[in-house]
Parts: sequence; structure tokens; C-alpha cells
Amino acid sequence: MRNELLPDQETLATLEAFAVDLASGAGRLIVTERPAELGVGTKSTDTDVVTEMDERAQEYLLGRIERMHPDDGVLGEEDGGSLSAGSSGLTWVLDPIDGTVNYLYGRDDFAVSVAVVVGDITTPGAWWPVAGAVAAPARGVTFHARADNGAFVVDRMGRRRRLTASSASELSQSLVATGFGYASEVRAQQASVVAALLPQVRDIRRGGSAALDTCDVAAGYLDAYYERGVHAWDIAAGRLVAEESGAIVTGVSAAAPLADGILVAAPRLHGALQETLMALPNDGMMSSQ
Ligand code: IPD
Repeated sequence: MRNELLPDQETLATLEAFAVDLASGAGRLIVTERPAELGVGTKSTDTDVVTEMDERAQEYLLGRIERMHPDDGVLGEEDGGSLSAGSSGLTWVLDPIDGTVNYLYGRDDFAVSVAVVVGDITTPGAWWPVAGAVAAPARGVTFHARADNGAFVVDRMGRRRRLTASSASELSQSLVATGFGYASEVRAQQASVVAALLPQVRDIRRGGSAALDTCDVAAGYLDAYYERGVHAWDIAAGRLVAEESGAIVTGVSAAAPLADGILVAAPRLHGALQETLMALPNDGMMSSQ
């Protein structure tokens, strides 16, 4: 199904270049125009924040997509996750600031995530990112990929590097990242999974941006990342970057990404980590999307 829906490489190259331009443009905006007193609101819980710059970055992205690709669909985090369907078969999936809590606190790990996907974005296992970019302006890099062409990172100087997931194969030697939802009952369950996993791995990281966690697996800065409860906009672009680096991307226990969260792992590690996570105290009530 994915292959039938896949645009040709020339079209994909244009989409990828546009995704890079969008993500880096929005990345510059949120850094250079961040006001001294940042307007902050809350969403699902008191700790799930949205800043005025999330909204401005989303407006910037939507405006440019509507001008260049008026027939495409759009799913953006700051629309409350409502899908505006298009007629072209392409859907742009946008997280204007992923890692908003890091952004709020002046920490570096926040990113703008822009992906273009084919298929039905509302159904896990029925959509595939075909081009995407994750701009991390405080790190000075943008990760990007298009289907069947490899994963790359480009820095401020324009230097580009191909990404390859790590060769890790032993769980006990692996650096594994995870993330937590915003609801305290969900976090309590996630904490019990981490507590059981921690003694079995080299160490655990909680970076605070799912988009960057997925790209960090692609770059070999992490061996794996898993999280239940993430949304399509958090991981759509990073999923492609990770897949194109050779990492394996699935649900935590299911085959389809987002059927029950996401598991991104170095190819020789994925099977063992998935088996281990499936055997741990289950937080299966947390699906995603
Ligand atoms: C969050 C981040 C975080 C993850 C959460 C996401 P946001 O996205 O990606 O790392 O653990 O599940 O909701 O709220 O910063 O866009």
C-alpha cells in the first residue's frame, strides 16, 4: 500500500526541501521572536503548556503550506489535533514546538517538526511519512529525510551528514530514552515501566522532545526510544528520519507505529527491547493519536 501511494523521487525531493525550509524558518521564528515575557496557556492538564510562540509558529507553517500546497491536508498540534482534509492525497503533519516545556524553561531540546504523509493519518498502520524535517534551532541543526533516500542532518554552516542508527545489540549496554504524558495517572504507570527497565539497560534518558528522541536514535546519540501516548505530530517526521537511518520503528508491542505508542530502536536491538517492554507491568491503556 505504501509503495502505491509514494510520490516519485523528484516530487519527494521537492517536498523534503520544502519541509526543511518550513521547519528551519519556524525554528528561526521561535528563537528570534521569542518575547521576554512569554505568553503561556495550558491544554490537557495544568502541566501541558502552550506558548504564544507555538501558536505563531503554527500560523507561519499553515500560511506557507496553504500558499504552496492548497490541495493538501493538514494536521497540526495547535488546532487541537483536528484534521483539515485535502484532495491531493498528501497530509502535512505539524508540531510547531515539540518539547514546549524545554522551550519554556530555556532548555535546548525543542524542535519544529514538519512531515508530509500519505495514507489515513487517523489510523495507526495506515499512514507513512514520505518527507520530513525536524529543526532544532538551539542545537543549530535540522534533521531531514525523504522515503528511500537516507536520513541526514545539516548544521548552521550548511554541512550535511548522513545518519546511521547505532549497532547496539545488547540491552544491558543500551542507552534508552523515553517520555511521559501530562496526566498524573498516566505518568504513574509510565514510571513503573521505567523502574523495571532501568536495571536492565545502560541508562535512561528523558530528553523532553519526542521529535528529537526519534532523530537522536537515527544519529546514534541514543540506541532506542519508546513512549506510549505520543501523537502523530510528535513523531511523524522523526519516524521517517529514524527509518531512513536503518532504525526499526513500530508500536511498543504492536507492529504499527502509534497502535500502542512508538518504539524506535537500532536494528539489532529492536527485537530484544520490544520483548522486554512487552513483559513489563503494562501501561497498555495508553494508546496514541
Ligand atoms: C511532548 C514531547 C515529550 C513527550 C510528550 C509530548 P509537546 O510534546 O514530545 O517529549 O514525552 O508525550 O506530548 O507537548 O512538547 O509538543
